[in-house]
Amino acid sequence: MIIRNDDLPSKLTLYLRRFLYFLTKERFSKKLNYDWHKTSNRFDLINQIIKKKEFKSYLEVGCQSDVNFSKIIINEKVGVDPQSGGTHRMTSDQFFAENISTFDLIFIDGLHVYEQVLKDIDNSLKVLNENGVILIHDCLPSKIWHQTIPQTHSSWNGDVWKSIVKSRAREDIDTYTIKADQGLGLILKRKNKNILTHEIKNFKNLTFKDYYTHHNEFMRIVDEKDIFEIIN
Ligand SMILES: C[S@@+](CC[C@H](N)C(=O)[O-])C[C@H]1O[C@@H](n2cnc3c(N)ncnc32)[C@H](O)[C@@H]1O
Repeated sequence: MIIRNDDLPSKLTLYLRRFLYFLTKERFSKKLNYDWHKTSNRFDLINQIIKKKEFKSYLEVGCQSDVNFSKIIINEKVGVDPQSGGTHRMTSDQFFAENISTFDLIFIDGLHVYEQVLKDIDNSLKVLNENGVILIHDCLPSKIWHQTIPQTHSSWNGDVWKSIVKSRAREDIDTYTIKADQGLGLILKRKNKNILTHEIKNFKNLTFKDYYTHHNEFMRIVDEKDIFEIIN
């Protein structure tokens, strides 16, 4: 994900944060070679799912300049963002506190921080229609710098990936990551068909090295061509 220029800290700030992270948190230089130019983008996949499943209602958490939101073709569209885009000018927490609607497909792409993504997932599960689908953007960072908290690089996925690992250990939901467009988490409200048994004491404390070493198991990465077999 590329952050808007007005939200992006200066190059010097990013550099200093990287240096600090390197000194105090983690040093790991290996990277995963995802080539997102060779995969479908999020709006094509979302529209394909909507069409195939005959979905009628869509919620997007975090809309920014509506790059994705404006391309979604569906009867009812709700978009939530405290700054710009969508239909509701508020945070996802505020939205879920007052919302009474339910949705067939929910796309989570708001604040890219583990704790907030977990809240967005839990709140989404409460208003997801039966057989509905939750998608989460930015789940597969390629390099350590793309997933630091705070942000240290202009291309930033945040630590969304940790919320997928945590979801993978839950029995009541079935979680995957589609290998497309920065990694699209996929959550279905049904019994977990492949629970993560890896012993993890604190998900927030997982390192990029942990992710690099176990990403297939942690994220349950699937090819985009397999989506419909999974969600049917
Ligand atoms: C990566 S952008 C969204 C991009 C958009 N979904 C797309 O695909 O084109 C993230 C957006 O999340 C918004 N955001 C930040 N914190 C939020 C929160 N607590 N609730 C909802 N949106 C939030 C930001 O204002 C920003 O516009």
